Amino acid sequence: MDLKIKNKIAVVSAASKGLGKAVAEALAAEGVKLAICSRDKTRIDETAEYLKATYHVDVLPLVCDVTDQTGIALLKEKVLEHFGACHILFTNAGGPPPGKVEAFSGEDYKKALDLNLISTINLVNAFLPTMKQQQWGRILASASVTVKQPIPTLALSNVSRVGVVAYIKSLALEVAALNITANVLAPGYIMTERVKQLLEDRSKKEGISYDKAQEAILEGIPAKKIGAPADFGAFCAFLASEYASYITGETILMDGGMYKGLM
Ligand SMILES: NC(=O)c1ccc[n+]([C@@H]2O[C@H](COP(=O)([O-])OP(=O)(O)OC[C@H]3O[C@@H](n4cnc5c(N)ncnc54)[C@H](OP(=O)(O)O)[C@@H]3O)[C@@H](O)[C@H]2O)c1
Repeated sequence: MDLKIKNKIAVVSAASKGLGKAVAEALAAEGVKLAICSRDKTRIDETAEYLKATYHVDVLPLVCDVTDQTGIALLKEKVLEHFGACHILFTNAGGPPPGKVEAFSGEDYKKALDLNLISTINLVNAFLPTMKQQQWGRILASASVTVKQPIPTLALSNVSRVGVVAYIKSLALEVAALNITANVLAPGYIMTERVKQLLEDRSKKEGISYDKAQEAILEGIPAKKIGAPADFGAFCAFLASEYASYITGETILMDGGMYKGLM
């Protein structure tokens, strides 16, 4: 299926590996030109080289820590200088450290908000004007199943991501008439390095094997498997496509049935 986004320009943050890379890869496969960023120059350059060599699209790798507002301003400048526009924005960042509610100070919660909420707002503020000008835009904000169902050991994530839902819903209503959609992605467990790290941490903490730690997580997932990054990427590419112009303001789970509520 041709998603009709060939030659559009996408900005994908936190894209050197994991979910961001999977989204960049799915967009590259559709012929989308990309600006990708992360904090580590070697890693982001390697990912850009891989995408260019595999999909033969223009990929601009940029070093940017999304918690740094000045860094985002520079990112915007470089993207607009190189491509002159941005049609698709996937906002993403690293995850805050795991731990229960009382393990963290107010300062820790503030940092998590900077990482997951404020970075989203700053990225949108950077690229929304060009979307408004061209009257076409797709904003995809990466969050987590924790916005629907808190995970007991991920207090910082539980708290720092719900604001993203309120922000994206408010934004979606304001820009819908301009042919700009804004949606939140809420993955459960997708097998990236972060999830492998969480499993390793759990196995050490509980004195169980890595496989046992994974089994414990699968108990809460009706699909009895951890999701694949490529599936996540493909779904995001669809949401970024011409065909998804009528889907906006949604928070969409991809969690193998992990969320047990009705709505
Ligand atoms: N995988 C899942 O199942 C899952 C589920 C729910 C939510 N999430 C959330 O989705 C996000 C991505 O997760 P992931 O599994 O893809 O993690 P990952 O495999 O650890 O990859 C994280 C990516 O983010 C970049 N990054 C980290 N902090 C950054 C920052 N401040 N500024 C710019 N780039 C940054 C990293 O590159 P550098 O180190 O080079 O910066 C890397 O490319 C996280 O917030 C995670 O909590 C993941």
